[in-house]
Amino acid sequence: MARPVAFVTGGASGIGAATVRRLVQDGFHVAVADKSPIPSEEFATEGDRVSTHVVDVRDRASIAAAMEGYPEISALVCVAGIYQPRRFEDITLDDFRLMLDVNLLGVFCAAQEVLSRMPAGGRIVTVSSRAAIGGTNFAHYVASKAGVIGLTRAMAMELRDRQIAVNSVAPGFTDTPMTRSMPADQYQKAQSLEPSGAAADPADIAGAIAFLVDPATKFITGQTLFADGGKSL
Ligand code: NAI
Repeated sequence: MARPVAFVTGGASGIGAATVRRLVQDGFHVAVADKSPIPSEEFATEGDRVSTHVVDVRDRASIAAAMEGYPEISALVCVAGIYQPRRFEDITLDDFRLMLDVNLLGVFCAAQEVLSRMPAGGRIVTVSSRAAIGGTNFAHYVASKAGVIGLTRAMAMELRDRQIAVNSVAPGFTDTPMTRSMPADQYQKAQSLEPSGAAADPADIAGAIAFLVDPATKFITGQTLFADGGKSL
């Protein structure tokens, strides 16, 4: 029997790549959409259960083109995102616009685009952040991720009649290329502030995403699941 299709934005790296691997294990064919081309060896183990597409989530036409080959998409996972450390006083309008374009508008575009292909029982999972509840030196990122939680709740309300569940996973500090791009001393400091003293493994976050895609959780919608080792408590 053909595998159901999951479409994962930002699947080339970090949390997205871990999600791709996990969803393949869970029985999906995964369409990976990322602005970075994906080297063929990245998902060599997953073989033909993964297909890759170059997509910029800010560009609806590129999302539509990537989805075109899939008459039915059972799950959409919106992981694509950017981060930029910047003091509030130093954030420019262009910085703020770019953050919203990728992190928030990108979710809107992918979610709206998938609807014509998503059957009843479909799932949309967004990736917000623990930072959605606040944080210093990245106000534009905080605003974008708080927006993702609001958008998730609004979509859940409008799509519940179609039996499409929409939820968000809010990761805490996770060991990915995004966080590894921080200066090493800042990475170590951030890690030391986590309750466990360590960053999450991307597979830990993929597990939370897979939970919200699992048919057994179909009655959960509009929720934000904090996968942050308890730091936000
Ligand atoms: P990452 O930088 O390793 O992966 C992000 C992926 O998104 C990359 O493959 C990148 O090419 C892709 N991407 C960026 N802009 C794009 C665009 N315009 N169109 C398509 N793809 C694009 O980052 P990581 O850490 O795996 O982050 C994944 C998500 O998790 C992001 O939304 C991030 O904000 C969120 N997050 C990460 C945390 C962390 O500590 N790493 C904590 C909380 C949330």
